[in-house]
Amino acid sequence: MRGKVTVVGSSNTDMIVQVPHLPAPGETVLGGAFSSVCGGKGANQAVAAARAGAETVFIARLGRDAFGDATIDNLHTEGIDTRFIVRDPDAPSGVAMIVVDEAGENSIAVAPGANAKLCPADIDNAREAIAASDCVVIQLEIPIESVEYAAQIAFESGARVILNPAPARDLSNELLRRVFLLTPNESEASFLAGIDVVNQDTAVAAVDRLMERGVDGVVITLGKRGAVFKSRNVPFGLAEAFEVKALDTTAAGDVFNGALAVGLAEGRRLRDAVAFANAAAACSVTKLGAQPSAPERERILELMQARA
Ligand code: RIB
Repeated sequence: MRGKVTVVGSSNTDMIVQVPHLPAPGETVLGGAFSSVCGGKGANQAVAAARAGAETVFIARLGRDAFGDATIDNLHTEGIDTRFIVRDPDAPSGVAMIVVDEAGENSIAVAPGANAKLCPADIDNAREAIAASDCVVIQLEIPIESVEYAAQIAFESGARVILNPAPARDLSNELLRRVFLLTPNESEASFLAGIDVVNQDTAVAAVDRLMERGVDGVVITLGKRGAVFKSRNVPFGLAEAFEVKALDTTAAGDVFNGALAVGLAEGRRLRDAVAFANAAAACSVTKLGAQPSAPERERILELMQARA
């Protein structure tokens, strides 16, 4: 049976330029190829979940413009349920300017547009879909009231909330108590826990600090070093990363979260779901662009099989 995943969040059109190095303030860097692809942390997570095998619903706000039309077409191609996406007559669709260097690292600036107007009433319209989900994935590129409202509906109806705290911001303990898994990267974990996460020991301390604030479990992604995890029922563990040559790390975290939701929605144990998500993220960094890099389920399973 396919798991049911709902993603509540942002959608952008990404304008990407490949550069030899990331520009410093005031510097102009002559780059290489330009490409424009569908992105946005929420939409990336939804596409990652659909390709990894879940029945996927995406709740978002887009402008009534050409970028919005292209995004809807793309989501339909991916088989994603778009019934709860609102088209805003007064705000443009979100746009992200991205530069990617030769090591695959990036810098991103986002003009949120309609994402900043996704409101609790929009979430309320999708109440039934949220309640029918195994997992609900939320990030922080939309207003915090909407994040909190979506988490409340999901929690009250028994759906597991995965909160990807990106980009990092303060979060209330009331919200954290509704979260089944919090999935920061190192810098987000450092910000939220008030501990400089630089190695496994500090990651363990950060996990414990975040669990004291009420979340059920935490997964901290550590890039090439894999991910650490712990929950109320699962002792601390480390899931090693898969070794691949990175071309572009954009959206690796989004792909990780989308695949993690699929793993949990299918009933995998936390350790197995994190391994599945690690494999998906590893596949994603080998390709340029956010959504173009999200792997199909077969590719994720092949990578896992190759290591087994
Ligand atoms: O996480 C990567 C995403 O961040 C990009 O697709 C961009 O749109 C921003 O939302």
